[in-house]
Amino acid sequence: MSCCVADTGKQEKSVPNDPGAAASEHESNTIAEWEMYSEWWQDGFTDGADTEYSEQILPLIMKYLPLRGAMVDIGAGDGQVARLAAAAGLHAIAVERARNQIDVGVERGGGVLWLQGSATELPLADASVDAAVLCLVIEHIERFDAAIVEVARVLRPGGRLLILMNHPILQTPGSGWIDDHILEEQYWRVGPYLVETTTVEEVGHDVFLTFHHRPLGSYLNVAAEAGLTLTRFIEPSPAPGFLAETPEYTEADTIPRLLFMVHSKP
Ligand SMILES: C[S@@+](CC[C@H](N)C(=O)[O-])C[C@H]1O[C@@H](n2cnc3c(N)ncnc32)[C@H](O)[C@@H]1O
Repeated sequence: MSCCVADTGKQEKSVPNDPGAAASEHESNTIAEWEMYSEWWQDGFTDGADTEYSEQILPLIMKYLPLRGAMVDIGAGDGQVARLAAAAGLHAIAVERARNQIDVGVERGGGVLWLQGSATELPLADASVDAAVLCLVIEHIERFDAAIVEVARVLRPGGRLLILMNHPILQTPGSGWIDDHILEEQYWRVGPYLVETTTVEEVGHDVFLTFHHRPLGSYLNVAAEAGLTLTRFIEPSPAPGFLAETPEYTEADTIPRLLFMVHSKP
């Protein structure tokens, strides 16, 4: 499975959302987690290690990136998206906060310009890029609204923002397949949706990551207020490779794991 999608059986711990004192604690936890688990991410999810990325995520992003110009991959990890964009002829910039991701990204090469920085304070000039990608990042960013406003600032007019995320409706904390032995059916349970929560989830053996859940409307309204226009809204059926690993759920292909949105700056 992808590390980042809710699944039955995973461990979840809720952390109260306290926008005052607790805010910086979530933020520093996220920084520490990604320094600690960078190698786990690089080994399990990048450069062909994960079928969901190879079959679905990367092709989707490449399909909606512009053909030329500059792109920034925000929360780039080891830069797998930026490397592909550079190979396709774009000027690719990777912005990432975790030093352990950047070091491996630099080693892996591919003509990417690396900048250490935060999504909420991009180290880029106003109107300097044609596209920005947030791939499985926004759910780890506490101040997601600041990140979207920053993207709107650095995009040129006509530029686009590509967001790929865990489906915020169907993958809320507490969601998962239920085998109902009384009704003799399987169905998908959706966890509490309207409540903004922060959870720490065990996504691999001894790997604990912080996720922020907020309703879909929060993302759409912030993007609209930042002057971005929604131009694509794609809820792909889970990738064939993932479905092949999930034969126990007969309707697994009817519940999207991911949401992909493209916004344009007019
Ligand atoms: C799930 S990984 C995704 C990596 C990459 N986008 C990919 O798809 O391969 C999330 C990454 O976002 C980074 N990240 C989290 N919060 C960030 C922030 N506020 N600014 C920049 N990077 C951040 C983490 O360090 C981590 O490398």
